[in-house]
Amino acid sequence: MQQKIIILDFGSQTTQLIGRRIRELDTFCEIIPYNKFPKDDPNVIGVILSGSPYSVHDPEAFQVDLSQFVGRIPVLGICYGAQFISHSLGGKVEKADSREYGRANLQTVDTSNPLFKGFDQHSQVWMSHGDTITAIPDGFQVIGSTKDVKNAAFTNSCNSSNSLSKIWAVQFHPEVFHTLQGTQLLRNFVVDICGSRQEWSAASFVDSTVKELKEQLGQDRVILGLSGGVDSSVAAVLLNRAIGDRLTCIFVDHGMLRKNEFTQVMEDYKGLGLNVIGVDASEKFFTDLAGVTEPEQKRKIIGRDFIEVFNEQAKAIINSSSSGGGGQQGAVRWLAQGTIYPDRIESLNITGKVIKSHHNVGGLPKEMNLQLCEPLKWLFKDEVRRVGRQLGMPEHLITRHPFPGPGLAVRILGDITPEKVRILQEADDIYIRGLREYVDTDGVTLYNKVWQAGVILLSTVRSVGVMGDERTYENPVALRAVTSTDAMTADWAHLPYDFLAKVSNEIINKVRGVNRVCYDISSKPPSTIEWE
Ligand code: XMP
Repeated sequence: MQQKIIILDFGSQTTQLIGRRIRELDTFCEIIPYNKFPKDDPNVIGVILSGSPYSVHDPEAFQVDLSQFVGRIPVLGICYGAQFISHSLGGKVEKADSREYGRANLQTVDTSNPLFKGFDQHSQVWMSHGDTITAIPDGFQVIGSTKDVKNAAFTNSCNSSNSLSKIWAVQFHPEVFHTLQGTQLLRNFVVDICGSRQEWSAASFVDSTVKELKEQLGQDRVILGLSGGVDSSVAAVLLNRAIGDRLTCIFVDHGMLRKNEFTQVMEDYKGLGLNVIGVDASEKFFTDLAGVTEPEQKRKIIGRDFIEVFNEQAKAIINSSSSGGGGQQGAVRWLAQGTIYPDRIESLNITGKVIKSHHNVGGLPKEMNLQLCEPLKWLFKDEVRRVGRQLGMPEHLITRHPFPGPGLAVRILGDITPEKVRILQEADDIYIRGLREYVDTDGVTLYNKVWQAGVILLSTVRSVGVMGDERTYENPVALRAVTSTDAMTADWAHLPYDFLAKVSNEIINKVRGVNRVCYDISSKPPSTIEWE
């Protein structure tokens, strides 16, 4: 049995962070819309109620029937979760005179209560709420207060003899970094109170997923689109472990990959024992993109062409298997994707409306009749990397930076030609090789210190330069490198001047067509990581 903690999502921006923190405690957890508690799942060992943008008094505030789990498993309410518990069980929640936001210190804290085991007096916590709990329900008692918030933490655990009906509620946010002992609080809840055996690890994930995939897929054959990126590669290796050659991977070269990337990645994949069909479709993409300058238009053309090429290959595989080409193997019934957890959380908010559809291979024609198989759908990015290492994949594949689906096409301002792509590939290769080779003072390469890096060719701009005795009139390039944890926000990376100087020199000397190098010092927001 795989123990799990359920986090009921009431729409707070920090709900995902609660999930991260719990996974860091080697405990599996699922974030689920507030009204979708899995009543019949015997593996749930505890439940956490998240914060929310609503006040409990708002007519549209999200409500949950607490009796589904109170009395069966321990409950922790955070912020709105705490207010909701108080409001539902007979306490009182009122508008605070002023919004309580930011750092606070616990003036009193009951360290004899298991939730606060190991806590320091005056421990710093992070508040962010407009309402305040002015009375706690009968049978509860206060176990933590700050100067302004008397009922900052309360519980019925001191009075309840039944450990399973115990409820804890905290007005502050233990999941955020500024609550300095927040991880301790969550560990106390998840491990000591709920009894997590902390068994979730990359090794256990690989074992259980391979077993599940074998059961789920039987003798069926599976198609998977590879991009060269971490997620699809790890998904492929995992599936290959489960079903071997019944997995066929398709890797499409649209002509706008990095220098030599297609050949290198194909070699890597073959080295991993994957059954991969590499398709060089660059001519089709270049023809269809000719003269197009508008960024969204470029993306649309590339997306459409990609689906066309992929479908053609997929159909050929399906036809060969149904005409007996698959030998003893079964029919192609599945399309596998490297979708990961944040892709899905971004795609579905708690009201079920799509915010942003993720850009994995999509749009396969219905007549192909393929079901989706997404073996990484519960993992965060760093967990995918841990699983990749567990599967013995080479480090350079695992630590690869994210790269946009449309590739260098969104890093060339203006129209796209094979010659411009070649110029950009050369400059990009010098930059990325430089980042990999430069070991910083702490022993880490610059490549591993940044989230993502690349060069942008400003082909719509020309500037004057002088090389030898000759005047030049050529294009500038911009170098981009950012630090980030999830690409939602990003800071420009403060790369060392000596590194920038060396790269600039090498690009201008070696790449014909470029006579100026700039460094992009914009953060996201307000800028984005890519220029287009
Ligand atoms: P932005 O430019 O929006 O990028 O700050 C955030 C992250 O998404 C990647 N990106 C894309 N990935 N198709 C993709 O598969 C796209 O069209 C696309 N646009 C941006 C970008 O490289 C960064 O990691």
